[in-house]
Amino acid sequence: MPMPVEGTPEFPMIFRTRDLTKVYRTGETEVHALRGVDLNVAEGTMAVLLGPSGSGKSTLLNILGGLDTATSGRAFFRQREITAMAEADLTRYRREMVGFVFQFYNLMPSLTARENVDLVTEIASRPMASDAALELVGLGARMDHFPAQLSGGEQQRVAIARAIAKQPDVLLCDEPTGALDSATGVVVLEALDTVTRELGTTAMLITHNAVLAEMADMVIRFADGRVQEVTRNATRRRPRELSW
Ligand SMILES: Nc1ncnc2c1ncn2[C@@H]1O[C@H](COP(=O)(O)OP(=O)(O)O)[C@@H](O)[C@H]1O
Ligand SMILES: [Mg+2]
Repeated sequence: MPMPVEGTPEFPMIFRTRDLTKVYRTGETEVHALRGVDLNVAEGTMAVLLGPSGSGKSTLLNILGGLDTATSGRAFFRQREITAMAEADLTRYRREMVGFVFQFYNLMPSLTARENVDLVTEIASRPMASDAALELVGLGARMDHFPAQLSGGEQQRVAIARAIAKQPDVLLCDEPTGALDSATGVVVLEALDTVTRELGTTAMLITHNAVLAEMADMVIRFADGRVQEVTRNATRRRPRELSW
């Protein structure tokens, strides 16, 4: 049965993809990063993406976030077709709707935590105050510190505050705890969990850590450029309840 282009009022979708493919061509070599991905992600979902390195997780997230383009197939953000957007629309979509968190925080070293978040709130259309964003990630007392004065986990929480301060509709996180030890990682994931619950933000989180499947509503397992399995949890568990 064909996937409906729109979700239902009771079960609206924020993302839908249909036979999405991505081929990277470098010289004579072709890499099939996505080999036909069909996925429905409901509004407000916390989705965790698992799968071996090279299985296409980052490629999918980058296409959904408007950072990369597909080779074929279609991807929708609500009623808008991402795969049909021109460059300027894609830029606007990314700026207004999407927050990104990557493994490396990319904070400006010469700016304080608050000033790093201000960089985003100054250009956003409906931002929350930088102070409020930093409070949400538990850094209310560290707003005037520079990145070099903060631990790795604290810097990543500044990056999360920066990503959510513009109140994006979706937060895309690509191995946000990949560079952190597990105790620090839990604190960062707690911050992610809290802000997405409080703001109702849909989130997609790539991780190598299968234990983190339990913090998700929806678990998407990737293998070789395809979605191998989608499972759903009845409840999201708090990261601090998980141990690994
Ligand atoms: N910019 C690129 N140019 C060429 N190949 C790429 C590029 N980005 C990713 N790939 C390849 O596409 C495949 C999927 O990569 P990726 O989506 O990063 O996987 P994952 O995030 O699951 O580790 C890999 O084989 C990777 O080497
Ligand atoms: Mg990746």
